[in-house]
Formats: sequence, structure tokens, C-alpha cells
Amino acid sequence: MSLESALDEYPKELRLRDGLAVQARPLEPDDHAAFHRFFIALPPPELLYIKHRVTEPDVVRTWCESIDLGRNLPLLAWNGETIVGVCTLHQNLGGWKRHIGRVSVHVHPQFRGRGLAQALVGEIVDIARACSLEKLEAEFIGTQDGAMKVFGLIGFSELTRLPAYVKDMQAITHDYVLMGLDLLTDDEFAGMG
Ligand SMILES: CC(C)(COP(=O)(O)OP(=O)(O)OC[C@H]1O[C@@H](n2cnc3c(N)ncnc32)[C@H](O)[C@@H]1OP(=O)(O)O)[C@@H](O)C(=O)NCCC(=O)NCCS
Repeated sequence: MSLESALDEYPKELRLRDGLAVQARPLEPDDHAAFHRFFIALPPPELLYIKHRVTEPDVVRTWCESIDLGRNLPLLAWNGETIVGVCTLHQNLGGWKRHIGRVSVHVHPQFRGRGLAQALVGEIVDIARACSLEKLEAEFIGTQDGAMKVFGLIGFSELTRLPAYVKDMQAITHDYVLMGLDLLTDDEFAGMG
């Protein structure tokens, strides 16, 4: 299966634990205002850990103007006109890490604790398999215990932890944690020898 055929499934309804139904679909060019509103709704301390200045409208507008889902696939969850969660699959199209996708996830503060992050990461894992990726990774700073728990529930495990290795946007040092998930089945491993 290809990325294109995997994306044919969207928009797709995801039903959360409390019964709320959200619509999941990839980012589209006209989403920039809603996407910017999503980021400014995040608590300021969490923004310190995001690698881009997402509260600046131009940053989000530029993303929406240059969508390349084969490289960066933001899967958005919508509740009506509001984006309530986003899980992104980043792919390297060449080089040493071309078989490894990177996943990140953020959920709107008012929509947490309902299984939305778990549902979105699960969708991205399925899409990654459809793209024939062999592994997924996710990066964290040492204080993101809740997020690491979400990924752990999906089957990711800690690959490495480097003490006091990264700095947030206020130059405060944190541990760096890399988690990973193997997407190959046992049969596929057996066939690789
Ligand atoms: C981490 C985050 C994505 C979780 O979103 P969410 O939709 O609330 O997560 P879910 O409801 O799917 O959680 C699934 C399980 O993960 C665990 N979990 C989630 N958030 C947790 C937290 N803050 N602390 C402890 N455990 C947590 C729980 O076991 C939860 O199951 P439960 O509710 O039955 O106990 C959200 O809090 C967020 O956006 N945080 C800021 C961004 C971030 O840290 N992203 C990760 C970088 S890749």
C-alpha cells in the first residue's frame, strides 16, 4: 500500500472514550488560521519544547503553503471548526534514516484525557506501515512523562536517554529521550537475512 491509498481513508471519524466523535484528516492549505489558533491555545510552558515558533502566524502560514505530505504529514483532529489534536509523521526521503519515521503529537488542553493522543498516534502508525517504513521514533525531553506514557501504551520503548543534553527555548537543560517502535513483523524480519 502507498501513502496515497492510506490517505484515501480520510476524512475519518475517530470516536473517543467519552463518546465524542472527531474528524481526522491531513492538513490542507486553508487550515492556517485554525492551526494557528490550536497552537496559541497550548499552555506557554509547553511551547518552550516545540522546535518552531508556532505562535507566529507566518510560521504556520508558511507550513500550509508548502504542504508535502510525503515529508511532513500533520494529521489533524477536528471538533467542528476547531482543531483539537495533531499528530505528525516526518519522513526522510533519503539517507541513513529513510526507513525511520518520526512522530510527534499535541492535544488541545480542553480535549485531553479522552484517548485522543492514543487514537491519533495509532492512525499515524497505520499510515507509516502503509508507507513501508520499518521503524518509528519519537523524541522527548525528560519531563514529558505523560507523552512518553502515551507512546509506551502504543508499544514504543525507550531507546536512549542522554542526561542534561538538550536546552528548551529558555536555555534550560533537560534530559533527551528517544523512544522507538519496530514496524516489521516477525515474518518480515525472518525474510531479511
Ligand atoms: C501528552 C499528550 C499528547 C496526551 O494527550 P491525551 O489526548 O490527553 O492523551 P490520551 O488521553 O490519549 O492518553 C492515553 C494514556 O496516556 C497516559 N497519559 C496521557 N497524558 C498523561 C499525563 N499528562 N500524565 C500521565 N499519563 C498520561 C494515560 O495513561 C492515558 O490513559 P488514561 O487516561 O486511561 O490514564 C498531551 O498532554 C499534550 O499535548 N501534551 C503536550 C505536548 C507533548 O508533550 N507532546 C509529546 C511530544 S511528541
